[in-house]
Amino acid sequence: MSNRRKVTVVGAGNVGATCAQVLATRDYADVVLVDIKEGLPQGKALDINQMGAVLGYEPNVSGSNGYEESAGSAVVVVTAGLPRSPGMSRDDLVSTNEKIVGSVTEQVVAQSPDAILIVVSNPLDAMCHVAKSVSGLPKERVFGMAGILDTARFSTFIAWETGSSVKDVQATVLGGHGDQMVPVVSATTVGGVPLRKLVPEERIRSMVERTAKGGGEIVNLLGTSAWYAPGAAAAQMVDSIMLDEKRVLPCTAYLEGEYGIDGLYIGVPVKLGSAGIEQIVELDLTDDERNALKASSEAVREVVGVLTT
Ligand code: LAC
Repeated sequence: MSNRRKVTVVGAGNVGATCAQVLATRDYADVVLVDIKEGLPQGKALDINQMGAVLGYEPNVSGSNGYEESAGSAVVVVTAGLPRSPGMSRDDLVSTNEKIVGSVTEQVVAQSPDAILIVVSNPLDAMCHVAKSVSGLPKERVFGMAGILDTARFSTFIAWETGSSVKDVQATVLGGHGDQMVPVVSATTVGGVPLRKLVPEERIRSMVERTAKGGGEIVNLLGTSAWYAPGAAAAQMVDSIMLDEKRVLPCTAYLEGEYGIDGLYIGVPVKLGSAGIEQIVELDLTDDERNALKASSEAVREVVGVLTT
């Protein structure tokens, strides 16, 4: 092993392996890929290491069916759990994935008590509650990936609609990772120009709707959940923590009064650095956006109510 710090990704399925792959190309940390399926994490780890020889990276990815190798990780990304099939909502996964995420969290924290946990498993907002209560870690060190993915979808549609580079689109999607998520149109700009000056209201509405149903659109095409953008989004959060970048990114954070929401995980912009969530950023929302965020939080609360953890 090298002396680089360690990032563990639990779940060597599509999302986990993509996250590990993106992290491997960053060359600042060793990556441990954990999965219960024999051969899967070892095989994917080997393949990713060998990709380094082609692309000119120096990855050190190892695969394991247990948690010993993950010991002392600085960050652990939890992707374990079932993905959606066509016709399923994310919420349909709640009971099955609660057990999986609970057991994974317990084993992760036993090996890496100082780690920061990034939850990716669905239904995302509820799974963050499971990870927080099972781990006993402070809220700054347990949070979820959804907003970067949802924002990436919204930004992509805006770039296509306006014929602009996606790099010049500035957008944020708040709320739960479900069909009631809240793209903040009032704070969305392309090259600094408000979106509402560039695109008619009904086209904006249709992009908002396509974003909210963006995960389902891919499930219908592929028969399972997306993984390229979700894996890359989780890796971006790891970057901001490991490199102490202090990026402001939409993440699923535990709110205690911010945005008028208390005791609930929901997507909001946060500053991510070496301590985890270092600040929750409160945007000025329009009345409509504030009401939509409230509706989204009520939907999340209902799913959280089903948890037994
Ligand atoms: C999605 C799944 C990963 O939104 O929740 O694609």
